[in-house]
Amino acid sequence: MTKILVTGADGQLGSEIVKLSRRFSNMKFTFLTIDNLDLTDNNRVSDYFSKHSFDYLINCAAYTAVDKAESDREAAQEVNSSMVGLLGEITAKSGTRVIHISTDYVFDGKAHFPYTEDASTNPASVYGKTKLEGEELLMRNNPQSVIIRTAWLYSSYGNNFVKTMIRLGKERDEMRVVQDQIGSPTNAADLAEAIVTIIYRVEEESYKFVPGVFHYTNEGVASWYDFAYHIFDLAKIDVTIVPVSSDEYPTPAPRPFYSVLSKQKIRSVYDVDTPHWYASLCKLF
Ligand SMILES: NC(=O)c1ccc[n+]([C@@H]2O[C@H](COP(=O)([O-])OP(=O)(O)OC[C@H]3O[C@@H](n4cnc5c(N)ncnc54)[C@H](OP(=O)(O)O)[C@@H]3O)[C@@H](O)[C@H]2O)c1
Repeated sequence: MTKILVTGADGQLGSEIVKLSRRFSNMKFTFLTIDNLDLTDNNRVSDYFSKHSFDYLINCAAYTAVDKAESDREAAQEVNSSMVGLLGEITAKSGTRVIHISTDYVFDGKAHFPYTEDASTNPASVYGKTKLEGEELLMRNNPQSVIIRTAWLYSSYGNNFVKTMIRLGKERDEMRVVQDQIGSPTNAADLAEAIVTIIYRVEEESYKFVPGVFHYTNEGVASWYDFAYHIFDLAKIDVTIVPVSSDEYPTPAPRPFYSVLSKQKIRSVYDVDTPHWYASLCKLF
């Protein structure tokens, strides 16, 4: 029986793993939320790992308030960098492999073609910088780690763009949505499936565990405007959508203009599915 610890279990991605875990009877999942264990509490985390052992840690815990991070650097750094470094240190001692989630925000978004895993990083926001520091600390402290960078996550759980559009679309006659940022909307249920598939391939199908950085999003690209258009269409919400530029919608944290990630590596190493974003969005309705 493969023993897996999932942290951040009540976030968007964590909740999708909770739901998915019921299908895998040969894997024993343990789920932790911040209420069970605050992962920034070094003593409690060390104590927890001295009493429990796991084959894998899937770390879904993160500081994800991208705009708030600009004025709350310390808190973002504590969770996205220091805490991830500590998890690396502790899991390395117990021989636990880590699957950790990172972000497209490690890139500056100035590219015109999909980012591969070895493309130069250059985060423009505090959130992106702290996530990149977390990647580096984790790899240094526990080289037996897989880091999956993802982007534009949504789910039926938690707060996300899909839910916000549906709520505001019902309240308003007109919505202004940014049209000059391009990415790949990603259903967190597909990312959850990809993560558990990696473990399944290694444990049940004799794939080699290949550590390192990987990219995973749904396939295809869209602007936030395109994404909103299809959300309203599927939700049957009659609202006028006005495309606007990023200049007209300033945010404390700068967003990458182009954040499309190449999925070739994760497909070839672990043979995971990357469904088209529109097909995956339809599953929510
Ligand atoms: N959402 C996106 O669009 C997106 C895009 C790219 C990458 N990612 C990455 O994908 C991963 C999952 O994102 P998500 O959208 O599922 O995030 P989420 O919904 O914000 O979930 C993060 C979880 O981490 C928990 N957490 C925060 N600080 C903690 C601490 N000190 N100890 C224990 N748990 C703590 C949060 O608890 P509280 O809610 O109680 O604070 C929350 O349950 C993250 O690594 C994120 O950086 C997300």
